[in-house]
Amino acid sequence: MAKYTRRDALTAAGALATAAAVPITARAQSPIVIKFSHVVAVDTPKGKGAEKFKELAEKRLPGKVKVEVYPNSTLYKDGEEVEALQLGSVQMLAPSLAKFGPLGAREFEVFDLPYIFDNYEELHKVTGGPVGKALFKKLDSKGISGLAYWDNGFKVMSANRPLYMPTDCKGLKMRIQSSQVLAAQMKALGALPQTMKFSEVYQALQTGVVDGTENPPSNLYTQKMYEVQKNVSMTEHGYLGYAVIVNKKFWDGLPADVRSGLEAAMNEATTYANAIAKVENEEAMAKVKASGKSEVHVLTPAERTAWKKALIPVHKEMESRIGKDTIQAVYKETGFKPV
Ligand code: LMR
Repeated sequence: MAKYTRRDALTAAGALATAAAVPITARAQSPIVIKFSHVVAVDTPKGKGAEKFKELAEKRLPGKVKVEVYPNSTLYKDGEEVEALQLGSVQMLAPSLAKFGPLGAREFEVFDLPYIFDNYEELHKVTGGPVGKALFKKLDSKGISGLAYWDNGFKVMSANRPLYMPTDCKGLKMRIQSSQVLAAQMKALGALPQTMKFSEVYQALQTGVVDGTENPPSNLYTQKMYEVQKNVSMTEHGYLGYAVIVNKKFWDGLPADVRSGLEAAMNEATTYANAIAKVENEEAMAKVKASGKSEVHVLTPAERTAWKKALIPVHKEMESRIGKDTIQAVYKETGFKPV
């Protein structure tokens, strides 16, 4: 080990004295740290969007901002992360829209209604219009600001038996996110909904704690769920996307130039994340198929009609929870028509 001499000690003391003599304003400011926590893999639309935001924010605001991205539930898991945001232990999250109910923002569950969106274009009319804005306003009173909507994709159903018709789900224990609409959806199929943290799903499927689940292909693939599910049905029965949210006090307290730089970075990252989501999901599905571990079934038009018929009554059933106005506003934007 190198010897630490009296001369070294004096040099160190001198450096400290010099530092102390420099006025605070002239010293290099330490960057503002933004911890961005999420629960999915890096190689997903959300994972890549978060990395893109980090890259753009640090480029726009060199030395002023440092974005630390924590993927895969490494910092906070479902059920912990929103509280951590409210407490200021983390500054930025992107929970799925299905996870705002427990916070008291039940209107967000409108996005979980089965078959309410036929494609990304319809969905963007909602997230990019007055409904999307009004939903973000609901978060203010919870100490949260909504910054952007990020896409993932349309969900597939998986299990260890073929799910061709809705009745094939009867009696299956199906893992869901913490949304009452998703619980009602599984019940409408005769399945038994089991709310569970995302970080626990793979093991629960592997050990048979649950029989099946629903997720867009990007999550099915990157969490290796397809390795422990013999059958995947391309039901595309519901949308899964995210709200990028921040601690409101933290955000409002940022210097104006920093906040506007971050807003610009977020706008660019949002364009990027929403541009890659569809392709990312298509590629993930192709990899699931190529693996040969799950048999992938594409619904015939008659099967798709049967799934729609079984699930669309959930809209009416959930009207009092979500709010008729919110559902009607979404219908109006998308031109929704029941089968
Ligand atoms: C899930 O819990 O199934 C998903 O919401 C995870 C995610 O963030 O995509």
